[in-house]
Amino acid sequence: MKILYFKIRAVLVTWLMRLLPRNPPIVFKGVNSALTLCEQVAVLGYTKVIIATDNFLGGSGILDGIKATLTKQGVEYVVFDGILPDPAFDQVQEGEAMIRTQRCQAVIAVGGGSVLDAAKMMAMLHTNPGSLESFDGIQKCKRPGLPLFAIPTTAGTGSEITLAAVITDPVSHRKIPIVDSKMIPGYIALDAEIMKGMPPGITAATGMDALTHAVESYLSKASTSATEEHATAAVRLIFKYQLRAFKEGGDMEARDGMALAAFYAGAAFTRTSVGYVHGIAHQLGRLCGTPHGNANAMVLPEVLAAYGECVHQRLAKLADVAGIGEPGEGQASKAGKFIQAIVDMRKDMDLPLQPKDLKASDIPGIVDEAIAEAGSLYPVPRYMSEAELTTIVNGLRAA
Ligand SMILES: [Fe+2]
Repeated sequence: MKILYFKIRAVLVTWLMRLLPRNPPIVFKGVNSALTLCEQVAVLGYTKVIIATDNFLGGSGILDGIKATLTKQGVEYVVFDGILPDPAFDQVQEGEAMIRTQRCQAVIAVGGGSVLDAAKMMAMLHTNPGSLESFDGIQKCKRPGLPLFAIPTTAGTGSEITLAAVITDPVSHRKIPIVDSKMIPGYIALDAEIMKGMPPGITAATGMDALTHAVESYLSKASTSATEEHATAAVRLIFKYQLRAFKEGGDMEARDGMALAAFYAGAAFTRTSVGYVHGIAHQLGRLCGTPHGNANAMVLPEVLAAYGECVHQRLAKLADVAGIGEPGEGQASKAGKFIQAIVDMRKDMDLPLQPKDLKASDIPGIVDEAIAEAGSLYPVPRYMSEAELTTIVNGLRAA
């Protein structure tokens, strides 16, 4: 009965996601495209903007070129660098207050997923005043937000192209997913120059997040030919460039490839949603503070293996895309090779296999929440039993 309810709900969510109106953003690509984006701000006639970022980036030299280009173009700016990881609504309110008092006309977001999510919400809150609860759900914003320009500094979350932001309630610490197609930034710069200073550990974790988006989207029952094109492009690029970007941060071709991969993976999963890997990873983040990309990497191959035969055909296709399938090889064998390649990639980048401080008593709660999250939001290829998910999560203590 519960499975039937999940299936009906997944169909409804899928159709709703497909029907949401979306304006495709304008994307600048390549080295120094962040500066081109800043020139575009001036071309559009904005004379005062807010740069939304975090404390680390605000104090680094990464903003220097952006600030210099804005000044050269006659655009005034203020910097709000109060965004923290897993941003809470009070940070969003603080940033919006700066928009109001400084009379900013547009938002330039420079950062990883947390910064982009908070900046999306700052832009929306400015034109749709309200409490965090009033945004909880799908398409709750009545008016378009302030114009938003996104410069991702990591290649992972794909938040620059997704229609969602996750904002934490500062009192209950509950993470609220806000889904509104008006949150998609109007302009995006995928600039490898901005990403070249990303440390190897962050490169590894964010790249695995992008890979998880691409794979879970490709396996989703809501996938379409358009999302499959994006997901397979992302997988191809990740298998070509992820290890290169990890080993040599200054490899600009690899950084370029990974920036594009994360963007394509984001374009795919923003229409199909994700799956059990994210369902478990969100709980590991909440309970153990495990960074999102690391948490995905801990369970991605294990979840794929547990799905079993129902995903062999699709994983075999991804093995071909990744260049690891042999002509004439059977689907099960290719699927196994693809899963093993992810295990190898995880090992090559020395990613942790266990969350810190995961207690045996946490496991039933993690499984329950993952079942509820996947059941209500994700059109997974097959609904897993409590026992199957318990085996996967138990493995995180024994790994
Ligand atoms: Fe993710």
